[in-house]
Amino acid sequence: MGKTSEGRRPEHVAIIMDGNGRWAQARGKPRLFGHHAGARRVREIVESCPDLGVKYLTMFAFSTENWKRTQVEVSGLMKLFKRYLMSETKELVEAGVRVRFIGDRIRLDERLVALMDELELLTSGNDALHLTIALNYGGRDEVARATKRLAREVAAGRIDPESVDAETLAGFLDTCVLPDPDLVIRTSGEARISNFLLWQSAYSEYEFIDTLWPDFTRDEFARVLANFGARERRYGAVPG
Ligand code: FPP
Repeated sequence: MGKTSEGRRPEHVAIIMDGNGRWAQARGKPRLFGHHAGARRVREIVESCPDLGVKYLTMFAFSTENWKRTQVEVSGLMKLFKRYLMSETKELVEAGVRVRFIGDRIRLDERLVALMDELELLTSGNDALHLTIALNYGGRDEVARATKRLAREVAAGRIDPESVDAETLAGFLDTCVLPDPDLVIRTSGEARISNFLLWQSAYSEYEFIDTLWPDFTRDEFARVLANFGARERRYGAVPG
C-alpha cells in the first residue's frame, strides 16, 4: 500500500531552529543578539502557518543539552522566553493559536513555568494553529519519562505488561495528543536531529536548509513546504 504526498502540504511541521549564534557572530554581536533575531522569525513563521495550510507547528527552543552553554547565554535565553511569552500572549489568544509546551519543566524557573501554564490555559479553546514549543526537551529524556510513568501504571496493576505496545508508550509521551510530524526542518546546514522528536519522526521527511534561523523567511518556509508535496512517502511499503 503506497501513500503519496504529491500536491499535499504537510499538516504537522517541526523545526530545529539552528544558527542564531553564528548569525550574531558574523555581525560581531553577542550570541544573544542572534537569539533575539531568532525570536522575531518565530513570530513570522507562526503567523504564516494558517495561510500555508500548516495546522501543527512544533519548534525546538531549548534542549536538555543546552544547559551546557555559558551561564550568560542560558539565563539570557530564559529571560527571552519569559519576555516572549508575555509579549505574545494577547496576539496568540486572538489569533486562535493553541499553545502547548513539551519537555521537562522540573529544571525551568517558577516564573517561566507559571507563564507556560497560563498560556496553555488561555489558549486551550483555540484551534486555528497548534503551536508546540519544546523547552528543556530531549527525545531520549521524553521516552525515559514516559517509560517511568508507564512502569508506575504497570506496578500499580492498572496496565497488563503483556498488553504494552508502541501505541501504549506513545500515550505517555509529552506529545500524546499531537499527530506525528510530516516534515522536520533544520536550518543552518547541520544534518543532525539532535535528540528532537526521536520517536515521533520515525516516518517524517527531513529538510536540512543552509539558511541560518534568523534569515529563514516566510517565503523560504513556503518553498520548503511546496517541495514536500513533490516527494513520495511510503511508510516502508512498496509503491503501488
Ligand atoms: C540554536 O542556535 C538556537 C537555540 C538554542 C535557541 C532557539 C531560540 C530561539 C529561536 C529564540 C526564541 C524562541 C522562542 C520559541 C521564543 P545556536 O545558538 O545553536 O546557533 P549556532 O549553532 O550558530 O551556535
